[in-house]
Amino acid sequence: MKKWYAVIGDPIEHSLSPLMHNTWFETQKIDASYLPIHVKPQELEQAVASLKLLDAGGWNVTIPHKEKIIPLLDVLDDSARRMGAVNTVVRMADGRLKGYNTDGLGFVRSLEEQIGSEKRQLRVLIIGAGGAARGIAFALESTGYSAISICNRTVSKAETICCELSQNAQALSLDQASQELDDYDIIVQTTPAGLKNGSFELPFNCEKLKSTAIVADIVYNPLMTALLKEASKKGATVVTGIGMFIHQGALAYSYWTGNYPDIVAVKDKLLANLG
Ligand code: ATR
Repeated sequence: MKKWYAVIGDPIEHSLSPLMHNTWFETQKIDASYLPIHVKPQELEQAVASLKLLDAGGWNVTIPHKEKIIPLLDVLDDSARRMGAVNTVVRMADGRLKGYNTDGLGFVRSLEEQIGSEKRQLRVLIIGAGGAARGIAFALESTGYSAISICNRTVSKAETICCELSQNAQALSLDQASQELDDYDIIVQTTPAGLKNGSFELPFNCEKLKSTAIVADIVYNPLMTALLKEASKKGATVVTGIGMFIHQGALAYSYWTGNYPDIVAVKDKLLANLG
């Protein structure tokens, strides 16, 4: 029987996940399809019940449901438990629903695809302390990055994540981080600043950015955010957000199908579809 998968979120119409997963199903000759489903916050419980009833093999979860879906699931993977957020649901053979979070590891894979895995001792600065930052901080730490700082407009939120990391992580204000930017080798921007629609300007100053720095942004539309343009002008290595998007999806796809998809071929297709 043909299998089916989905992504649920609000809004959902601009999601590139259906294009990406359907391309992988086609390439790997898997008889399955992947649909975008618009689920408003008050409809989440009913949506999960319907997905279960209609035998969805699994689905991705995006804003604003990543945390709220947790009580509706039967089992949580360690990644999701630690991050307090789920972006991938797998329907197990016995019908139970298991939640995973592939965002953080997706980011690390995208980063290391570009810079390799020999730079884990470098000093990392994460900008932002929301759900995305939390996932990335935990994934970096568990991969072996040993010096992580987090800066945020609301410093207390950065402090909370730092306390949960097992290493001695440091929380900073955006201002402090701007002043000490030349202490950092890897900068990871995780706020929605620079996002095409509803963007705001991040009160963060790049004057002290080192030309040898590696600067990653999780925003991928536009591909070159203001921060990445600035970093590029200074000669820094730039990691765009599209890689994280592809790798988080590839991990989800591998949990559903048992196969790892082609990361490279799908990238051009996605880039051509960025609005
Ligand atoms: P996500 O789950 O996608 O990471 P989030 O939890 O809403 O999203 O987090 C958004 C991040 O962007 C937070 O770090 C937030 O800072 P606060 O914790 O101080 O709210 C940051 N952010 C949002 N709007 C901002 C703004 N205008 N200036 C600076 N930072 C902002």
